[in-house]
Amino acid sequence: MKILTFDNYQLMSAKAADLVIALINEQPNCVVALPTGQTPLALYQELTAECQQGETSFQQLIVFNLDNYVALAKDHPASYERYMQENFFSLVDVPKANSYMPDGQAPDLDWVCDDYERALQEVGGLDLAILGLGLNGHLAFNEPGTPVASLTHVVDLSPSTRQANAVGFKDIEEVPRQAITMGLGTILSAKQIILLASGDSKKDIVKQALQGPITPAVPASYLQQHHNVIVILDQAVAAELS
Ligand code: GLP
Repeated sequence: MKILTFDNYQLMSAKAADLVIALINEQPNCVVALPTGQTPLALYQELTAECQQGETSFQQLIVFNLDNYVALAKDHPASYERYMQENFFSLVDVPKANSYMPDGQAPDLDWVCDDYERALQEVGGLDLAILGLGLNGHLAFNEPGTPVASLTHVVDLSPSTRQANAVGFKDIEEVPRQAITMGLGTILSAKQIILLASGDSKKDIVKQALQGPITPAVPASYLQQHHNVIVILDQAVAAELS
Protein backbone atom coordinates (compact mmCIF):
# COMPACT_ATOMS: atom_id res chain seq x y z
CA MET A 1 0.00 0.00 0.00
CA LYS A 2 1.37 3.37 -1.02
CA ILE A 3 0.24 6.39 1.00
CA LEU A 4 0.57 9.82 -0.58
CA THR A 5 -0.12 12.95 1.46
CA PHE A 6 -0.82 16.41 0.07
CA ASP A 7 -1.14 19.82 1.68
CA ASN A 8 -4.74 20.23 0.71
CA TYR A 9 -7.77 18.76 -0.99
CA GLN A 10 -7.10 20.39 -4.38
CA LEU A 11 -3.58 19.00 -4.57
CA MET A 12 -4.65 15.49 -3.59
CA SER A 13 -7.41 15.58 -6.17
CA ALA A 14 -4.97 16.76 -8.85
CA LYS A 15 -2.70 13.82 -8.04
CA ALA A 16 -5.59 11.39 -8.23
CA ALA A 17 -6.55 12.87 -11.61
CA ASP A 18 -2.96 12.47 -12.86
CA LEU A 19 -3.04 8.79 -11.97
CA VAL A 20 -6.40 8.23 -13.64
CA ILE A 21 -5.35 10.12 -16.77
CA ALA A 22 -2.11 8.15 -16.96
CA LEU A 23 -4.08 4.91 -16.90
CA ILE A 24 -6.53 6.13 -19.56
CA ASN A 25 -3.67 7.25 -21.82
CA GLU A 26 -2.01 3.88 -21.45
CA GLN A 27 -5.21 1.87 -21.78
CA PRO A 28 -8.00 4.02 -23.31
CA ASN A 29 -10.61 1.26 -22.89
CA CYS A 30 -9.88 0.62 -19.23
CA VAL A 31 -12.71 -0.28 -16.85
CA VAL A 32 -13.05 2.02 -13.86
CA ALA A 33 -15.33 1.96 -10.81
CA LEU A 34 -16.47 5.44 -9.85
CA PRO A 35 -17.50 6.82 -6.46
CA THR A 36 -19.99 9.46 -5.43
CA GLY A 37 -19.91 11.71 -2.35
CA GLN A 38 -18.12 14.95 -1.55
CA THR A 39 -14.59 13.56 -1.69
CA PRO A 40 -14.28 12.87 -5.45
CA LEU A 41 -15.86 16.17 -6.59
CA ALA A 42 -12.55 17.93 -7.29
CA LEU A 43 -11.22 14.82 -8.99
CA TYR A 44 -14.19 14.95 -11.38
CA GLN A 45 -13.46 18.65 -11.97
CA GLU A 46 -9.84 17.88 -12.83
CA LEU A 47 -10.83 15.05 -15.18
CA THR A 48 -13.45 17.26 -16.80
CA ALA A 49 -10.91 20.04 -17.40
CA GLU A 50 -8.49 17.55 -18.95
CA CYS A 51 -11.18 16.27 -21.30
CA GLN A 52 -12.50 19.72 -22.24
CA GLN A 53 -9.00 20.97 -23.03
CA GLY A 54 -8.79 18.10 -25.48
CA GLU A 55 -5.82 16.55 -23.68
CA THR A 56 -7.46 13.19 -23.07
CA SER A 57 -10.48 11.53 -24.60
CA PHE A 58 -12.73 9.30 -22.53
CA GLN A 59 -14.50 7.87 -25.57
CA GLN A 60 -13.33 4.35 -24.96
CA LEU A 61 -13.48 4.46 -21.19
CA ILE A 62 -15.88 2.04 -19.48
CA VAL A 63 -17.22 3.11 -16.10
CA PHE A 64 -19.27 1.37 -13.43
CA ASN A 65 -20.64 3.27 -10.49
CA LEU A 66 -19.82 1.66 -7.18
CA ASP A 67 -23.32 1.88 -5.81
CA ASN A 68 -26.77 3.40 -6.00
CA TYR A 69 -29.77 3.97 -3.75
CA VAL A 70 -32.77 1.67 -3.92
CA ALA A 71 -36.15 3.18 -4.78
CA LEU A 72 -34.99 6.75 -5.28
CA ALA A 73 -36.24 8.57 -8.37
CA LYS A 74 -33.46 9.12 -10.89
CA ASP A 75 -34.27 12.83 -11.04
CA HIS A 76 -34.24 13.33 -7.26
CA PRO A 77 -31.69 16.07 -6.39
CA ALA A 78 -29.70 13.59 -4.28
CA SER A 79 -29.82 10.66 -6.72
CA TYR A 80 -26.53 9.21 -7.89
CA GLU A 81 -27.78 9.42 -11.47
CA ARG A 82 -28.02 13.21 -11.08
CA TYR A 83 -24.73 13.44 -9.24
CA MET A 84 -22.90 11.61 -12.01
CA GLN A 85 -24.70 13.50 -14.75
CA GLU A 86 -24.05 16.92 -13.24
CA ASN A 87 -20.50 16.36 -12.04
CA PHE A 88 -19.10 14.21 -14.81
CA PHE A 89 -21.10 12.57 -17.58
CA SER A 90 -22.67 15.73 -19.03
CA LEU A 91 -19.23 17.40 -19.12
CA VAL A 92 -17.06 14.70 -20.70
CA ASP A 93 -17.20 12.35 -23.67
CA VAL A 94 -17.80 9.00 -21.97
CA PRO A 95 -20.35 7.29 -24.26
CA LYS A 96 -23.65 6.55 -22.55
CA ALA A 97 -23.38 2.92 -23.60
CA ASN A 98 -20.12 2.66 -21.64
CA SER A 99 -21.45 3.91 -18.33
CA TYR A 100 -23.14 1.53 -15.91
CA MET A 101 -25.10 2.24 -12.74
CA PRO A 102 -27.15 -0.40 -10.95
CA ASP A 103 -30.86 0.37 -11.37
CA GLY A 104 -32.20 0.88 -7.87
CA GLN A 105 -35.75 1.23 -9.16
CA ALA A 106 -35.93 -2.09 -10.97
CA PRO A 107 -38.55 -4.60 -9.77
CA ASP A 108 -36.04 -7.44 -9.36
CA LEU A 109 -33.02 -6.11 -7.49
CA ASP A 110 -31.31 -9.50 -7.20
CA TRP A 111 -31.37 -9.75 -10.98
CA VAL A 112 -29.88 -6.25 -11.23
CA CYS A 113 -27.04 -7.30 -8.92
CA ASP A 114 -26.27 -10.46 -10.89
CA ASP A 115 -26.51 -8.56 -14.16
CA TYR A 116 -24.07 -5.92 -12.87
CA GLU A 117 -21.52 -8.60 -12.11
CA ARG A 118 -22.14 -10.19 -15.52
CA ALA A 119 -21.62 -6.86 -17.28
CA LEU A 120 -18.37 -6.34 -15.37
CA GLN A 121 -17.12 -9.80 -16.31
CA GLU A 122 -18.03 -9.23 -19.96
CA VAL A 123 -15.71 -6.23 -20.18
CA GLY A 124 -12.92 -8.09 -18.39
CA GLY A 125 -13.33 -6.85 -14.80
CA LEU A 126 -12.15 -3.68 -13.10
CA ASP A 127 -8.80 -2.19 -14.00
CA LEU A 128 -9.20 0.53 -11.39
CA ALA A 129 -11.56 1.22 -8.50
CA ILE A 130 -11.62 4.78 -7.19
CA LEU A 131 -12.97 4.84 -3.65
CA GLY A 132 -14.09 7.29 -1.01
CA LEU A 133 -14.47 6.23 2.60
CA GLY A 134 -17.52 6.25 4.84
CA LEU A 135 -17.22 7.49 8.43
CA ASN A 136 -17.82 3.94 9.70
CA GLY A 137 -15.22 2.51 7.33
CA HIS A 138 -17.62 1.55 4.56
CA LEU A 139 -16.42 1.25 0.98
CA ALA A 140 -19.10 1.98 -1.60
CA PHE A 141 -22.07 0.90 0.57
CA ASN A 142 -20.39 -2.13 2.13
CA GLU A 143 -21.30 -1.57 5.74
CA PRO A 144 -19.39 -3.06 8.70
CA GLY A 145 -19.89 -6.84 8.82
CA THR A 146 -20.00 -7.30 5.03
CA PRO A 147 -18.19 -10.51 3.98
CA VAL A 148 -14.91 -9.85 2.22
CA ALA A 149 -15.85 -12.09 -0.73
CA SER A 150 -19.23 -10.41 -1.32
CA LEU A 151 -20.30 -9.52 -4.85
CA THR A 152 -22.81 -6.85 -5.91
CA HIS A 153 -25.74 -7.02 -3.49
CA VAL A 154 -28.57 -5.16 -1.84
CA VAL A 155 -27.70 -3.66 1.53
CA ASP A 156 -29.63 -2.16 4.44
CA LEU A 157 -27.99 1.17 5.18
CA SER A 158 -26.96 1.83 8.78
CA PRO A 159 -28.53 4.77 10.62
CA SER A 160 -25.12 6.52 10.71
CA THR A 161 -24.65 6.15 6.95
CA ARG A 162 -28.15 7.48 6.31
CA GLN A 163 -27.39 10.41 8.60
CA ALA A 164 -24.05 11.12 6.90
CA ASN A 165 -25.74 11.04 3.49
CA ALA A 166 -28.74 13.18 4.43
CA VAL A 167 -27.49 16.25 2.55
CA GLY A 168 -29.74 16.84 -0.44
CA PHE A 169 -32.75 15.17 1.20
CA LYS A 170 -35.66 17.01 2.85
CA ASP A 171 -35.10 15.13 6.10
CA ILE A 172 -33.64 11.88 7.38
CA GLU A 173 -36.89 10.02 6.69
CA GLU A 174 -36.44 10.69 2.99
CA VAL A 175 -32.96 9.10 2.84
CA PRO A 176 -33.26 5.63 1.28
CA ARG A 177 -33.00 2.68 3.65
CA GLN A 178 -31.40 0.37 1.11
CA ALA A 179 -28.80 0.53 -1.63
CA ILE A 180 -27.21 -1.68 -4.25
CA THR A 181 -23.46 -1.86 -3.91
CA MET A 182 -20.58 -3.60 -5.56
CA GLY A 183 -19.39 -6.10 -2.97
CA LEU A 184 -16.05 -6.02 -1.22
CA GLY A 185 -15.03 -8.98 -3.36
CA THR A 186 -15.96 -7.04 -6.51
CA ILE A 187 -13.97 -4.01 -5.41
CA LEU A 188 -10.95 -5.99 -4.22
CA SER A 189 -10.80 -7.79 -7.56
CA ALA A 190 -9.78 -4.51 -9.23
CA LYS A 191 -6.23 -4.55 -10.57
CA GLN A 192 -5.59 -1.18 -8.96
CA ILE A 193 -7.36 0.78 -6.22
CA ILE A 194 -7.17 4.48 -5.38
CA LEU A 195 -8.61 5.46 -2.00
CA LEU A 196 -9.29 9.15 -1.39
CA ALA A 197 -9.89 10.69 2.02
CA SER A 198 -9.79 14.27 3.19
CA GLY A 199 -10.83 16.42 6.13
CA ASP A 200 -10.71 16.19 9.88
CA SER A 201 -13.80 14.00 10.21
CA LYS A 202 -12.07 11.11 8.39
CA LYS A 203 -8.83 11.02 10.35
CA ASP A 204 -9.82 8.39 12.93
CA ILE A 205 -11.39 5.99 10.47
CA VAL A 206 -8.47 6.35 8.04
CA LYS A 207 -6.07 5.39 10.82
CA GLN A 208 -8.21 2.36 11.71
CA ALA A 209 -8.53 1.33 8.07
CA LEU A 210 -4.87 1.65 7.17
CA GLN A 211 -3.08 0.84 10.42
CA GLY A 212 -5.61 -1.05 12.53
CA PRO A 213 -6.46 -4.75 12.47
CA ILE A 214 -8.00 -6.21 9.32
CA THR A 215 -11.56 -6.82 10.41
CA PRO A 216 -15.10 -6.95 8.99
CA ALA A 217 -15.93 -4.22 11.53
CA VAL A 218 -13.93 -1.82 9.32
CA PRO A 219 -14.57 -2.85 5.71
CA ALA A 220 -11.85 -0.53 4.38
CA SER A 221 -9.25 -2.42 6.46
CA TYR A 222 -9.41 -5.17 3.81
CA LEU A 223 -7.56 -2.78 1.50
CA GLN A 224 -4.43 -3.70 3.47
CA GLN A 225 -4.62 -7.13 1.79
CA HIS A 226 -4.70 -5.75 -1.76
CA HIS A 227 -1.46 -5.72 -3.72
CA ASN A 228 -1.93 -2.42 -5.56
CA VAL A 229 -3.57 0.30 -3.48
CA ILE A 230 -2.66 3.97 -3.62
CA VAL A 231 -4.10 6.01 -0.74
CA ILE A 232 -4.30 9.73 -1.37
CA LEU A 233 -4.81 11.92 1.68
CA ASP A 234 -4.76 15.55 2.72
CA GLN A 235 -2.78 16.75 5.74
CA ALA A 236 -5.80 16.82 8.04
CA VAL A 237 -6.31 13.08 7.64
CA ALA A 238 -2.67 12.06 7.46
CA ALA A 239 -1.73 13.87 10.69
CA GLU A 240 -3.07 10.93 12.74
CA LEU A 241 -1.04 8.25 10.97
CA SER A 242 2.10 6.91 12.58
C1 GLP B 1 -21.39 7.27 0.45
C2 GLP B 1 -20.98 6.55 -0.81
C3 GLP B 1 -19.54 6.08 -0.73
C4 GLP B 1 -18.67 7.25 -0.32
C5 GLP B 1 -19.06 7.70 1.07
C6 GLP B 1 -18.23 8.86 1.59
O1 GLP B 1 -21.85 6.42 1.42
N1 GLP B 1 -21.82 5.45 -1.10
O2 GLP B 1 -19.14 5.55 -1.97
O3 GLP B 1 -17.33 6.89 -0.36
O4 GLP B 1 -20.41 8.11 1.03
O5 GLP B 1 -18.73 10.07 1.11
P1 GLP B 1 -18.01 11.46 1.24
O6 GLP B 1 -16.95 11.46 0.21
O7 GLP B 1 -19.09 12.46 0.95
O8 GLP B 1 -17.48 11.56 2.62
